Amino acid sequence: MIRSVVRGSGSALPRRVVTNAELAERVDTSDEWIVERTGIRQRYIAEDDETTSSLAIDASRKALEAAGLEAKDIDLIVLATATPDQTFPATATLVQHALGCNGGIAFDVAAVCSGFLYALASADSMLRTGMAKRALVIGSETFSRILDWEDRTTCVLFGDGAGAIVLEVQDVAEDGPGVLASKLHADGAHNELLYVDGGPSTTQTVGKLRMKGREVFRHAVVNLAAVLEETLAEAGFTPDDIDWVVPHQANARILDATARKLGLPAEKVIVTVDRHANTSAASVPLAFDAGVRDGRIKPGDLVMFEAMGGGFTWGASLVRL
Ligand code: UT7
Repeated sequence: MIRSVVRGSGSALPRRVVTNAELAERVDTSDEWIVERTGIRQRYIAEDDETTSSLAIDASRKALEAAGLEAKDIDLIVLATATPDQTFPATATLVQHALGCNGGIAFDVAAVCSGFLYALASADSMLRTGMAKRALVIGSETFSRILDWEDRTTCVLFGDGAGAIVLEVQDVAEDGPGVLASKLHADGAHNELLYVDGGPSTTQTVGKLRMKGREVFRHAVVNLAAVLEETLAEAGFTPDDIDWVVPHQANARILDATARKLGLPAEKVIVTVDRHANTSAASVPLAFDAGVRDGRIKPGDLVMFEAMGGGFTWGASLVRL
């Protein structure tokens, strides 16, 4: 069977850690509120010299090293971000040039927190239809640049970072590795619940993130449970078959609620929201790389990726390692 197989992963975080206590000095919040409502204890915030592209380049180099490949082996780069270095060209082209693999395909995907799922499914389709052989699929964000640092309802929730995986098209056995099923969705009716209040075509400013968190939370739990069931059904598996769920890290309570709905034990869920906070498109590959590098996620494991975010957009992918 022709499948896209994960060959390696890598991740990158900014140098600076910002604790809840530090944020409590800037806005009317507390470590206790943030931990209880979100599970977040700290986040990484980019300095001026750390950008979406620099974090993506760092994560990509580590993913290539883990895969035992060189940049010249890559002919497709799909980078998910809502915080590109420039309005254009795509940040993927900056990464391509820095790595030194010019000439293949490189583009960005804008699906906010679900961006990595959209990027993974796009790269998988392109690999299986023969448009490329090896892809870097990246999620990279500097959400700290679009936060309103006076709005306590949003500024405590997000962080910066990047994660990347290398996908390679291979002819494998039916029970072999690879992306087994992906499901993506969008519903543009909910723009006002999660959006950025600026953009080149409207305000000619970058804008700041605005969110009605409680409503987003409600939609997230329902949509995620549905897309997980849909993806499992497509691949012919049940929740019991899953070794690891690698979810978008928005809120520990969303992770718990989604796992409960599926009847999955909490021990099967990779959680990094306490350390990384919500890094939007970077959160799934950052969490995946953390689970691989600490030895929990192993070759042969059945791994479910899932995310939901602005748009709304949401999706899931089931992958055999
Ligand atoms: O990644 C994209 C998808 N995003 C998400 O999935 C986010 C989903 N939403 C959430 O994670 C949660 O809704 C939040 C963490 C954003 C908020 O938690 P909540 O339990 O839904 O709280 P809430 O918004 O209902 O606010 C409860 C109270 C409010 O005060 P009143 O109106 O009850 O007096 C807020 O003003 O908490 C207050 N509050 C805060 N207090 C201290 C809001 N933010 C803070 C804060 N510190 N940082």
